[in-house]
Amino acid sequence: MSARRVVLIGYGAIAADIVAALRAAREPGYALAVLLRPGSSSAGRVPEGVAALSGLDEVATFAPDLVIEAAGHGAVRESVPGCLALGLPVLISSIGALHDETFFAALVATARDGGGRLLLASGALGGLDYVRAVRHAKQLELRYQSRKPPAAWSGELRALGHDPAALSRPVTLFSGTAREAAALYPQNLNVAAALALAGPGFEATGVDVVCDPAATGNTHVVTVSSEFGTMALEIANQPSPTNPKSSWIVAQAILAAVDQHFSPVVMM
Ligand SMILES: NC(=O)c1ccc[n+]([C@@H]2O[C@H](COP(=O)([O-])OP(=O)(O)OC[C@H]3O[C@@H](n4cnc5c(N)ncnc54)[C@H](O)[C@@H]3O)[C@@H](O)[C@H]2O)c1
Repeated sequence: MSARRVVLIGYGAIAADIVAALRAAREPGYALAVLLRPGSSSAGRVPEGVAALSGLDEVATFAPDLVIEAAGHGAVRESVPGCLALGLPVLISSIGALHDETFFAALVATARDGGGRLLLASGALGGLDYVRAVRHAKQLELRYQSRKPPAAWSGELRALGHDPAALSRPVTLFSGTAREAAALYPQNLNVAAALALAGPGFEATGVDVVCDPAATGNTHVVTVSSEFGTMALEIANQPSPTNPKSSWIVAQAILAAVDQHFSPVVMM
């Protein structure tokens, strides 16, 4: 069996963890490439044996079996439409970029027309299988709470007149729908967007953003209630050692998705 061919868009903290794990994988192994922006400072860190690509034409020539985006919302806009148009499956982590309905609809149309497939990573969250199962429930209530230490939201706290270093109790920065949250904090709400897309959509997904001086990591709390029952889920993620803004688990979640993509047995 020949090596599986994978292109990663960007080479930051998450992509580096993924590349390291895939390079160590046993038979049939992976042939890897990274798509970098011109002049990217990441170029010097790309390990030997991993091809550095500079444009879509080079992605097409590399002929990947799978493309993975772990680079940010800008990268989704810049490179994902072209990859889908090439007919490729593209696994994205920056799901918050899909809160723009017009852009999302265009991606879906491109995937349909070109034969590509947009795959959404569960990323820092779990429980999306349950949320998918209840998405059409008549009495569905879905709420997501993001709980982070003050350092994660210091600018927002100062804007509200709080001193992040002196916060003595939790402060709710935002309470509303996932649609409103995505517009206010587009870069921070990949998890809310994943829940909204797995579940009843951006308008019907409730979001609370809480700054908690007692929080040590990034905690996600999801509560679901419907005629089918209830779910309460709390995940406390450790930050990535190389990028404290991202959770360490995200690369592992993407690796699990890569495994599913190539596996003859798929857990849905
Ligand atoms: N779904 C989730 O739960 C979840 C969780 C954490 C992070 N993420 C997403 O993953 C992304 C990457 O996280 P990270 O910790 O690796 O960040 P990072 O800052 O360490 O790395 C991002 C890399 O992407 C590169 N990049 C940016 N735009 C690019 C483009 N248009 N083309 C190619 N490369 C580009 C940057 O130069 C950088 O090297 C985040 O921006 C976030 O959107 C998702």
